[in-house]
Amino acid sequence: MRDAEPKAIHLADYRPPDWLVEKVDLDFALHPSQTRVTARLALRRNPKGAAGAPVVLEGDDLTLVRLAIDGTPLAGSSFEATGNRLTLAHPPADAFLLEIETLVDPTANTQLMGLYRTSGNYCTQCEPEGFRRITYYPDRPDVLSVFTTRIEADKQEAPILLGNGNLVESGQVPGTSRHYAVWHDPWPKPSYLFALVGGRLAKVADSFVTASGRKVELGIYVEEGKEARAGYAMDSLKRSMRWDEEAFGREYDLDVFNIVAVSDFNMGAMENKGLNVFNDKYVLASPETATDADYSGIEGVIAHEYFHNWTGNRITCRDWFQLCLKEGLTVFRDQEFSSDQRSRPVKRIADVRMLKAAQFTEDAGPLAHPVRPETYREINNFYTATVYEKGAEVVRMLKTLLGEEGFRKGMDLYFERHDGEAATIEDFVSSFADATGRDLSQFSLWYAQSGTPVLNVSGTYDEAAGTYRLDISQSVPPTPGQPEKKPMVIPLALGLVGPDGRDQPLMLGNTPVERGVVEVKEATQSFLFTGLDARPVPSLNRGFSAPVNLVSDLTEADRVFLAAHDADPFNRFDALQRIALELLKTGARTGTLPAPDALVTAARAILADPALDAAFKAQALALPGEGEVARELAREVDPDAVFAARKALRVTLGTTLAEGFTAAYAAGAASGAFSPDAASAGRRALRNLALDYLAVTGSADGIARAKAQFEAADNMTDRITALAVLAQHDVPEREAALDAFYRRFERDALVIDKWFTLQAQIASPTTLDRVKDLMLHPAFSLANPNRVRALVGAFAAANPTQFNRADGEGHAFVAEVVLTLDSKNPQVAARLLASFKTFRQLEPARRGHAEQALRRIAETPGLSPDVADIATRSLA
Ligand code: ARG
Ligand code: ZN
Repeated sequence: MRDAEPKAIHLADYRPPDWLVEKVDLDFALHPSQTRVTARLALRRNPKGAAGAPVVLEGDDLTLVRLAIDGTPLAGSSFEATGNRLTLAHPPADAFLLEIETLVDPTANTQLMGLYRTSGNYCTQCEPEGFRRITYYPDRPDVLSVFTTRIEADKQEAPILLGNGNLVESGQVPGTSRHYAVWHDPWPKPSYLFALVGGRLAKVADSFVTASGRKVELGIYVEEGKEARAGYAMDSLKRSMRWDEEAFGREYDLDVFNIVAVSDFNMGAMENKGLNVFNDKYVLASPETATDADYSGIEGVIAHEYFHNWTGNRITCRDWFQLCLKEGLTVFRDQEFSSDQRSRPVKRIADVRMLKAAQFTEDAGPLAHPVRPETYREINNFYTATVYEKGAEVVRMLKTLLGEEGFRKGMDLYFERHDGEAATIEDFVSSFADATGRDLSQFSLWYAQSGTPVLNVSGTYDEAAGTYRLDISQSVPPTPGQPEKKPMVIPLALGLVGPDGRDQPLMLGNTPVERGVVEVKEATQSFLFTGLDARPVPSLNRGFSAPVNLVSDLTEADRVFLAAHDADPFNRFDALQRIALELLKTGARTGTLPAPDALVTAARAILADPALDAAFKAQALALPGEGEVARELAREVDPDAVFAARKALRVTLGTTLAEGFTAAYAAGAASGAFSPDAASAGRRALRNLALDYLAVTGSADGIARAKAQFEAADNMTDRITALAVLAQHDVPEREAALDAFYRRFERDALVIDKWFTLQAQIASPTTLDRVKDLMLHPAFSLANPNRVRALVGAFAAANPTQFNRADGEGHAFVAEVVLTLDSKNPQVAARLLASFKTFRQLEPARRGHAEQALRRIAETPGLSPDVADIATRSLA
């Protein structure tokens, strides 16, 4: 059990560890309910620690069996073991061997941290603080040690035994039905990167030869019978390994790299050294069961975890405040990888869509925090869009400011200086400052200040002088704990588009603007561009060069122009989206949609443009989500009004552009065998968007087309989109198709997750009852995180009208599930509770219901620290 009231931990209080672990030998005797763990820690006093400090080791939910020092058993009087720590007040020497024997119960471990069981197999999750649930240990990322792990198990129960590093020995335990394997990891690592797996698993094997010619054995372990579904993951892994060599000069450093796919996992995946453990959602794919989004998700997450080998493992974090040091950087790296493998502009658009949906929303609500927080009560609650996605944006801005070459120099210096260390954000930023000679002190505010900056831009053209002046002001809104902010460094990529649609020269005085990026540093600042013979339309924040809310004086006509002509594909997309957003905001506020002619014109042009690829068109023509409209409205939001406005606009586009969509639908029909590549996925995306627009009115032929596609589909993308279209309409075809889908995929958990999600997202007053019924469905289980997220998570996060029902029943329901789940899996419960983060935007009645639900949670005794922390911050 943990401490009841976890206290706040502050970055400013960081102290180096008092004791280090030179090496650690672990011995596991796997057993379903009584796994015996023997840990031998070679402890050594840290010269940088506090003089005379006791040995204090963390623990959580452990049964202590035996303690010995240098081979001699320890009497009960010479140590103190509480639930959360083991203290040796008087260590015998400055270096000694501490032997600890503990018992843990992996079957009873429902929180899925530490050693637990999934589908009968044993696996571990130790980041951030799971290792203390295996043995007493200085469970902090700045204690690096060399691990040797012996795993022993019944050979029938667990024929496969995997650990970190390289396999050094294996065999039968004489005279028993048990066998063992010994794994040694030569690279010093913190405990959060420890992992072991034992069980009955099928192996998909391959190999990779590194740039310097070393052969690496690759293994992906999946449930027996699922081997064929691991092919895309394996291919993604090999491409990732090559890419990191080419793009960052980083080679793999062990003889083996193993990935294990498990069906019960709190998050996406985990980068344990040489032994990545994955949510099987990010490994398994086949055309029949995985969508294009699943394929790209697999590619991205496989790459992400692999890239952690250098950014996270070889260089790790000094403390958990530095989480973005590995996560933001590694997200940036996986985004770049996917951009190189796919279409860069389309990838950027998808990433920004997700950034705005998840991170901008977080930044605008009560859970806002800096990319590097300065205080936390429960670190599990900081694996957030801000740390990950905004963290990646900060690295991207660094690259934009320094240029390709400067950025690479800084990365190289970072690897050179800090390999083998537990580093900080200061170490990271200094590497770039020192490599390029730039002062990055103001830039560092991106790590410290929370909230999304607002950039106000207006332009003035002086015909006589041939100049164009941009007047820019910036501000960062107040966020929890940060009422006032300083101006940031904002890399603003821009172009001045002339009447012919081409970029005009970008000159400040007589100097061309390097790489097309100006740096906004002051609260207010003007830029005078020269040498212009016509009034330009400014294309601002190209490629979304800075994660800011841009408010400009562009007219709707300017935007139609940019949507048609901008040389920057991101801004063509953005111009169209902005036109739509303004219509939707007005529509939601007034109940009447303004004339959509400009949008129709711009959309028609994009749809018909033969130079644009299908994936881009699909992104551009998909209207901003309800969440984005709500965030833009910022206050007094009525989700039903947002939905109604968006529906009305979809109907308008679907009917006025019916001809174009019909043509796109026909043109997108598959030719040949299914392929998950980006171009094919883009064709499917556009065709499926067309299907949705053509059925938006619920007309008989629209429904018939969706039904036909549902039945004839040869891949999951086409089938599930058709089903999603049917599900939006209250027609008899809906229930029939849902039933057929369930029967077809009954035995396929990842597909059944989609079935749950689809129903949870139906924007209908009957959905809450449907979701409640589905919780009683034999296939539903609160023990499986994917299933909980698929049903309740989707309802709370992706069904704004029903979660925020006017009668408060949606909020009350989710709060109830959070409370039930909290005793089983606090991490998943806390994440579900975080869906309330937008409640302050709501109109008073709904806001009141949400607040009441939050209070009910906050006042419940015995909450986990995870849920207590989210409830408290949400209400603050
Ligand atoms: N480091 C993992 C990643 O690649 C995330 C693990 C987080 N796990 C957790 N229980 N909070 O992003
Ligand atoms: Zn990560």
